Parts: sequence; structure tokens; C-alpha cells
Amino acid sequence: MYKKIDLDYSSLEPYIDNKTLYLHYNKHYLKYLDNLNKILQNSEYDYKYNLVELVNNINMFDETIRGEILYNAGGVLNHELYFDIINNNGKKEPSGKLIEDIIKQYGSYNNFVSEFIKISSRLKGSGFTFLVLNNDKLEIINLPNQETPYIYGMIPIIALDMWEHSYYLKYENNKEQYIKNFFSIIDFNKVENIYEKEIQKNK
Ligand SMILES: [Fe+2]
Repeated sequence: MYKKIDLDYSSLEPYIDNKTLYLHYNKHYLKYLDNLNKILQNSEYDYKYNLVELVNNINMFDETIRGEILYNAGGVLNHELYFDIINNNGKKEPSGKLIEDIIKQYGSYNNFVSEFIKISSRLKGSGFTFLVLNNDKLEIINLPNQETPYIYGMIPIIALDMWEHSYYLKYENNKEQYIKNFFSIIDFNKVENIYEKEIQKNK
């Protein structure tokens, strides 16, 4: 079985309210995880891969269930990254290799944030905005529903959930404020660790 991650529901006040976080974790994230485990158990999968490897080896499954597996595995991966990189006591701005590469790509941290907000605001319907490593370059992309960047050969470094369930109780239709506030709760310690690990792997 793939196991759930823990989450402290009160950790993101006032930017994300406890009720939203509680529902998001229990009714959405855990649903993807349960569905994924159910499908895999029905197909007698032996859990030899981690989730990223599972996505990369999707062709080992029967064609008729690949879509369902990818949808739910994407749902788990996307939520786990989103929940993992947000908290109220994190490092507020990037440093090290990450800030170097952000400056190379976007000119400054502030430009990067503006660009992220602009691209994220353009997302139609449900989906996620990601900062990804695409070959050797940082890129901000939107993907629909629960698509994971891994299926396109890209590695997600930051994930922002833009499904209405992530913000609607508190922000209603003001999704731009939700996106802006995301930058008050990103823990760049976490993001830098992910980035540096991935860069090492790519070498
Ligand atoms: Fe979500």
C-alpha cells in the first residue's frame, strides 16, 4: 500500500483556514490515495515501485486501467508536493542554487513571483500550477486536473493546487489573492532541498 503523509490542519492559518485544509486532506487527497490502492490491489500489483516510478512504468498495466491509475497517482503526487512545501514557519525566500537559477531564468525573485501569479491566474478549470525542472531549465506550467509533470518528463519542484476546493471557502472567487498568499506560506527550505536533490540526480 502507498501510505498517507501527515498534515497539521492548523498550520496555515490565516492564509488557508483549518476547515479547508481538513476537507482538502481528508476528502480529496485521501480519496486519490484510497482509489489508487484499490485499483492496484485489484490488478495484483506488488508495490515494487515508488509513486514516481509507478507513473514512469505505467505501460506495465493493462491499457484499460492506465488512465485511472495515472489520474489517482497524479492526485497523490500533486497533493503531497503541495502539502509538503507549505507551512507557516518556513523560509520565506529562496537562496543557493535555486535563487541563482531563478535569477538566470526570470531576472529576479520578484519577477519570478509575478510570472507565477500571471500564469497561474490563466489556468482554466481545475488543475495545478507547477514550477518544474524541464531538462536543465526552470519553467512555470499549468496542467489540467491531476496530470503530473512526470508524464511529460518534467520534475515538479513547486505545486500549487488551483482546484476550487483548495481555496473557495475562504477566498470565494478571488483566486488571485489565494495565489499571492501562497507565496507567504511556501517553505523555501523544503523547495531548495527538492531542487538540489533533483539536480544531483540529473548530473
Ligand atoms: Fe486538491
